Amino acid sequence: MDDLKTLKDEALKAIEDVKDSKVLEELRVEYLSKKGKIQGLMAQMKNLEPSEKPKFGQLVNDLKSAVTEAIEAKKAQLDAEMLNAALENEKIDITLNAYNKQIGTLHPLTLVSRQIEDAFIGMGYQVAEGPEVELDLYNFEKANIPSSHPARDMQDSFYIDPVTLLRTHTTAIQMRVLEEQHDKLPIKLICPGKVYRRDDDDATHSHQFMQAEGLVVGEGITLADLKGTLQFMVDSLFGEGKQIRFRPSYFPFTEPSFEVDMTCHICGGKGCPTCKHTGWIEILGSGMVHPNVLEMAGIDSKKYTGFAFGLGLERVAMLKYGITDIRDLYTNDLRFLKGFKRFN
Ligand code: DAH
Repeated sequence: MDDLKTLKDEALKAIEDVKDSKVLEELRVEYLSKKGKIQGLMAQMKNLEPSEKPKFGQLVNDLKSAVTEAIEAKKAQLDAEMLNAALENEKIDITLNAYNKQIGTLHPLTLVSRQIEDAFIGMGYQVAEGPEVELDLYNFEKANIPSSHPARDMQDSFYIDPVTLLRTHTTAIQMRVLEEQHDKLPIKLICPGKVYRRDDDDATHSHQFMQAEGLVVGEGITLADLKGTLQFMVDSLFGEGKQIRFRPSYFPFTEPSFEVDMTCHICGGKGCPTCKHTGWIEILGSGMVHPNVLEMAGIDSKKYTGFAFGLGLERVAMLKYGITDIRDLYTNDLRFLKGFKRFN
């Protein structure tokens, strides 16, 4: 009986002092396994008087329960300590800044091009495209600019072979669509695109640039329609309140032809260095589609009339966003481009 008591004290003390679960497992084996100390006590039962046996058995069972309970409690305690330590050590510091993802911005020319498209799509225009490597036929011939025509000098071109060139204006797209859709009138289209000319690059010239062409052909289309349409475009690009004016000009593919100015967006028309003190800024070329152009496309010029216009997108972007050097639009300097995030 004394041995029992001693063993109990010894076991509970040892369990109490354990610091890690491996040692605890060794203690469990030492006391509770089949060949352990407590089982060993049971073996002594045979030496006892029969009257003492139940009592002894009872005490050994109590001892076994006490040690089992102590080990389980200790194990729970050690597991909890281990978990807390792991949580403490492996804590993720969520206050750290996340990686700053670099998100691109729309290029100013894309912005302007989309603004124009959106305005015209809203009025039922189709958006057309055409090849940048174009036939002389569509770039010049069908635009009423025959090979002998002096107007070819107005647009120094990159020729690829005698009949193929990089298109010099989006008017080439206009000619293609007119021919394709000559029997599906009325036509209303807007076509932005890249064009190429043999210009020396400087602050206002680029050998590659962008234009947008507009065209409407149908019955009873007049100059008044052109004027209203251009006023609408200026309003949607630059905000309402700008006036436009028509100056007579010359383009082989229109008759009459006009250069169109709008109220200077900087001074509001009072006169300033940007508008060279005239109060006006030139923004595009336009006119009534030349009857020759309609006829070459297979359209009856007695029955149908049309207007067309073409504008440079770099010029619009430069006016709108106060860009002073056209080359900024082509050098892809991220510092410059990021400035347009607020317009995206
Ligand atoms: N194609 C002309 C140019 O590149 C711009 C232009 C003028 C287009 C008058 C037109 C137009 O459609 O009617 O300078």
